[in-house]
Amino acid sequence: MQVRHFISLLDLSGNELRDLIHRAIWLKQHRDHDFQPLKGRVLAMIFEKSSTRTRLSFETGMVQFGGHAIFLSPRDTQLGRGEPLEDSAKVISSMVDCIMLRTHEHQTVTTFARHSRVPVINGLTDLLHPCQLLADMQTYFEERGDISGKTVAWIGDGNNMCHSYINAARQFDFKLNIACPADYRPLPAIVEPAGCRIRFFDDPLQAATDADLVVTDVWASMGQEEEQQKREQAFHNFQVNSQTMQAAHHDALFMHCLPAHRGEEVSAEVIDGPQSVVFSEAENRLHAQKALLEFLICR
Ligand code: CP
Ligand code: NVA
Repeated sequence: MQVRHFISLLDLSGNELRDLIHRAIWLKQHRDHDFQPLKGRVLAMIFEKSSTRTRLSFETGMVQFGGHAIFLSPRDTQLGRGEPLEDSAKVISSMVDCIMLRTHEHQTVTTFARHSRVPVINGLTDLLHPCQLLADMQTYFEERGDISGKTVAWIGDGNNMCHSYINAARQFDFKLNIACPADYRPLPAIVEPAGCRIRFFDDPLQAATDADLVVTDVWASMGQEEEQQKREQAFHNFQVNSQTMQAAHHDALFMHCLPAHRGEEVSAEVIDGPQSVVFSEAENRLHAQKALLEFLICR
């Protein structure tokens, strides 16, 4: 059987993604330590960038499913000393059952996948963060039911999270209103295939009007730290605050993949307020990725 990878939400069909979300909800509700479908299986995790949630959720998920996860950093492996990606992918995939990578360049993950004989999971690149969207969708389904036909407002940078929301709008069939400064729009190659589901706004309040879900992310992502000041200026009108949430639907949810900067992209009263589901969203990384690991490895 052909190896399946999860590099983008577009690697699974809409039905497969929905089944995966329902499976994640089921796994969360029926925590059974005797259910060990990945007994003896090994996940290699390669991190070029920092992580709390991604590392912890993948490692915990593997252990709870009876398997094991190995953390690999380019600092301590030959990957950091220039061993070709192609060779690394062949070697690593000859010994483990699945590989998760968090890298700067998206191409690193796609190249790795081309030479891997086991499933490769994108744990975040500069372009996409699909695992986070599994958790976000699970959280929305748990709180409000199916997201199909709903309106999501993305306020902030047209970054990896925004790109993954655009792909999610295609796969889960919701409308996505994007408010971001002109110089920080998402890539046309990702926006265009999503068609009329995506609408751009200069004014965050307009984007948030009647939205069922309001989402934001940091103004400077990992690797953009030296642009922090410039970005603070560009984004200062794009904070999600109580005014934004008042424009949204009265029972709208607020999400943020975390880590967050209170007082920058989101006010403390919103992220710590009653509409915020950021901590369920973070916990759901575990459940959603267990469903993903089971889907990819136990086929
Ligand atoms: N949201 C997220 O991916 O968090 P980490 O960077 O902590 O993994
Ligand atoms: N856009 C952020 C997401 C962190 C989980 C980053 O890439 O740093």
